[in-house]
Amino acid sequence: MSNFDALRAPAAHATVSLDSLRRSGKRHARLKGRQSDELSVQEVRALIGVRPEGGHRRDLLIEHLHRLNDHYRGLHDRHLVALAQEMNLPMAEVYEVASFYHHFEILREGQSAPALTVRVCEGLSCEMQGARTLLEKLPAVLGAEVRVIAAPCIGRCEQAPAALVAQQAVPWASLESIAQVCGGGVPLTPALSPEGRGSNSGPGSARARGGNSGPDSTQGKGGHAGPLDLLPLPLGEGRGEGPVVDFAQYQAQGGYALARRIVSGELAAEDVIGALEDSGLRGLGGAGFPAGRKWRIVREQAAPRLMAVNIDEGEPGTFKDRTYLERDPHRFLEGMLIAAHVVGTEACYIYLRDEYHDCRALLQAELAKLQADPPFALPRIELRRGAGAYICGEESAMIESIEGKRGEPRMRPPYIAQVGLFGRPTLEHNFETLYWVRDIVERGPQWFTGFGANGRRGLRSFSVSGRVRHPGVKLAPAGITLRQLVADRCGGMADGHELYAYLPGGASGGILPASMADIALDFDTLQPYGCFIGSAAVIVLSQHDRARDAALNMMRFFEHESCGQCTPCRVGTAKAAQLMAQPVWDADTLRDLSEVMVDASICGLGQAAPNPLRSVLAHFPHEVGAQA
Ligand SMILES: Cc1cc2nc3c(=O)[nH]c(=O)nc-3n(C[C@H](O)[C@H](O)[C@H](O)COP(=O)(O)O)c2cc1C
Ligand code: SF4
Ligand code: FES
Repeated sequence: MSNFDALRAPAAHATVSLDSLRRSGKRHARLKGRQSDELSVQEVRALIGVRPEGGHRRDLLIEHLHRLNDHYRGLHDRHLVALAQEMNLPMAEVYEVASFYHHFEILREGQSAPALTVRVCEGLSCEMQGARTLLEKLPAVLGAEVRVIAAPCIGRCEQAPAALVAQQAVPWASLESIAQVCGGGVPLTPALSPEGRGSNSGPGSARARGGNSGPDSTQGKGGHAGPLDLLPLPLGEGRGEGPVVDFAQYQAQGGYALARRIVSGELAAEDVIGALEDSGLRGLGGAGFPAGRKWRIVREQAAPRLMAVNIDEGEPGTFKDRTYLERDPHRFLEGMLIAAHVVGTEACYIYLRDEYHDCRALLQAELAKLQADPPFALPRIELRRGAGAYICGEESAMIESIEGKRGEPRMRPPYIAQVGLFGRPTLEHNFETLYWVRDIVERGPQWFTGFGANGRRGLRSFSVSGRVRHPGVKLAPAGITLRQLVADRCGGMADGHELYAYLPGGASGGILPASMADIALDFDTLQPYGCFIGSAAVIVLSQHDRARDAALNMMRFFEHESCGQCTPCRVGTAKAAQLMAQPVWDADTLRDLSEVMVDASICGLGQAAPNPLRSVLAHFPHEVGAQA
């Protein structure tokens, strides 16, 4: 998957072809025996520091690569050689890690880095809002100095089309706004928005044409819209004047009092686990494993234990973790610290996707405040930065990545609860799972189970994007139907659009027709229809869209993001994407391929990749000339 972005790049600096990849393989062999030069060593030391007494930590390799990549806008061969020497690692190891991640740009001798890289999201929601046009027209507008490449979902689907200029997000991107940011200007921010807040005004909406509007992610009130405003939440009064509840505000509103009670022993760990179990809280990263049970399992393993927090949020259509993190970071941090204490983990590693640059700055700042004035003794907390690889959201791949390696999923058993990060029993959680811990324990599990619809219990944060009037994070009762979600929480369909189909669970969760819009949306309710809710990323399609186009977009995404370890996934996604591009689908071959991928792939990516195509064959055969 390395350098794939460059392979797809339409612009002037698209430098890597298949031939050059082969050449780089040979060059790699040459690099093996290459000696570092003094200048490169000094340059590397200036960024990563001089070698400490016991040597550099191996697990910090990706962090060090980031420093070089940020500073030189790429990774020069000579720096990789020097880094390998400084870290006392084989050159092959450094190179294989650097070449795995999309955001690392390996530069050959004499090759210069593009002055600026613009990544335009080509995920489904952005594609529906004009991303293709941006990708076609931007190179001419921005000139040869700027490299324009397509990128998978960047977690801003409610702001589609979205782009990144270097690391700066450009929501509701237009040719003008991207050019403005490239020129050093400030993008039109939601606060400067001249028009309606976050509404999709119709086919080829104002945004796609360049209009800019602010987030209405949540139908909130006044100027501080946020998912929390939807609820009889949050604990504490108000959310303050600023858009973020910072450390001082959070504490002033009673924050960290619960964690203090638990750490002091006033509230027993067993009671905390009991509350989680009674609430029925399930993992919100997609797999839905019961949180309380997971805490119990990891707690029973031998110490030392570790925790890993998953804020990779790479599932196309998902942006709930970012939305909450941007507004209320300490609610999550308190949940994490409670989990660390109850399960007895000695360190917490937070893995945040690279695309969330502002969130990283925010989290660093808020962590610094917390650590400077801790409400109780804190465990070691390390913030780690992803490097552009969807597969690193898979729990064992994430662990490999935190260890500074290629993000390749591990075979199980052993499960990471037993043998995880650095070989230790590891509690891994999605951001949002931890975000709810405080409220559930403080308010009692009945508070959480008191929500629910159509026979289901609890709350779900739906990331809704696509053809609805008000896309955004919609906190709603578990079991709400798509029809209710769109009508009650999203202001209905966008003007000129009628419901045609929807994806209930991002790229992996399949596609359902409008006739199935009355199914309760929750864990376990969608399996009979060949779908699942996953991270509750709902993408809504209208009569202007086709399910087959959505499925092809998803299959190309999986092809791009397959780590390549297993043949059924690596070859199957590529082959399926080719077949799905044909006007009439070869349904038999696609069904065979799907079966092999489901049966023989190591991890959930390969196992779930066929879901969208299977859905098209089951529910939309008329689109592809196939028999249902
Ligand atoms: C291909 C793939 C990608 C995943 N991406 C994410 C992700 O971005 N964020 C996340 O929290 N979980 C993701 N998961 C689920 C994790 O493997 C894991 O189940 C989760 O982090 C556990 O936390 P939870 O129990 O709190 O949900 C992914 C799984 C797969 C198979
Ligand atoms: S299924 Fe795909 S992503 Fe998962 S390990 Fe195999 S090749 Fe990698
Ligand atoms: S940000 Fe473009 S599809 Fe998610």
